[in-house]
Amino acid sequence: MKPGPYADQQSPRASRRPWVVGVSGASGTPYAAAVLRGLLDAGQSVDLVVSRASRLTLLDETGIAFRDAHWRDDLRTWLARGADGKPDTFDPCLDDVRHWAAGDLAAGPSSGSYPVRGMLIVPASTACVAGVALGLSKDLLQRAASVTLKERRRLVVAVRETPLSGQTLKHLVALDEAGAVVLPASPAFYAGATHIQDLVDFVAGRVLDAAGVAHGLYRRWEGGLGGSRVGR
Ligand SMILES: Cc1cc2nc3c(=O)[nH]c(=O)nc-3n(C[C@H](O)[C@H](O)[C@H](O)COP(=O)(O)O)c2cc1C
Repeated sequence: MKPGPYADQQSPRASRRPWVVGVSGASGTPYAAAVLRGLLDAGQSVDLVVSRASRLTLLDETGIAFRDAHWRDDLRTWLARGADGKPDTFDPCLDDVRHWAAGDLAAGPSSGSYPVRGMLIVPASTACVAGVALGLSKDLLQRAASVTLKERRRLVVAVRETPLSGQTLKHLVALDEAGAVVLPASPAFYAGATHIQDLVDFVAGRVLDAAGVAHGLYRRWEGGLGGSRVGR
């Protein structure tokens, strides 16, 4: 039979449906690194958007200056780093990562017709929360989030700030009502954390849970108290 007009949609490239990962300028770049590693370990494609402000937090928290022109090298160095600051702790495979500059409003994720699974904002600043709640689209990250909401796709917002102002709380309610999962970057201690990476991986694992992506980043609650002390 002659191939139909959509036959090439069966090719691996045409069927690529990435998660958009937005990294905004809140403290918590290790959370973003853990989510990115988790997605890649699960064989998911990733489209990455790193806000301008998040380059300051990344520089502050890791010493890495993220450059659009050298994003693959800088991302590799970042994702290889443990939450305790040790370099080369992980060996990330970046084959299925695509990077879009934060100022590129013509990028794929700024349109609803660009195929994606959904979007994870990790960490989400209160400025980003406000921008998405109000639909400001001031950069690609915010535009991609608004598109995710209008297309009724999964949007996970891992907000990181404390304490929270009334204004931010209202913005978070607006996001919840718009269908987003509001997921505070708030690690729990029942999973038996002994290292910083465990606390980071707990939050990253909850983000991946909200996205429906399989992972083994933390030990799940199975009922029964005292499990967090097992193995200590
Ligand atoms: C070192 C550093 C840490 C910051 N931490 C936070 C934070 O934890 N939460 C937050 O909402 N904003 C934080 N900010 C402020 C944001 O970066 C700022 O509001 C910025 O405008 C966010 O822009 P973006 O959402 O476009 O990335 C921090 C800024 C710096 C320089």
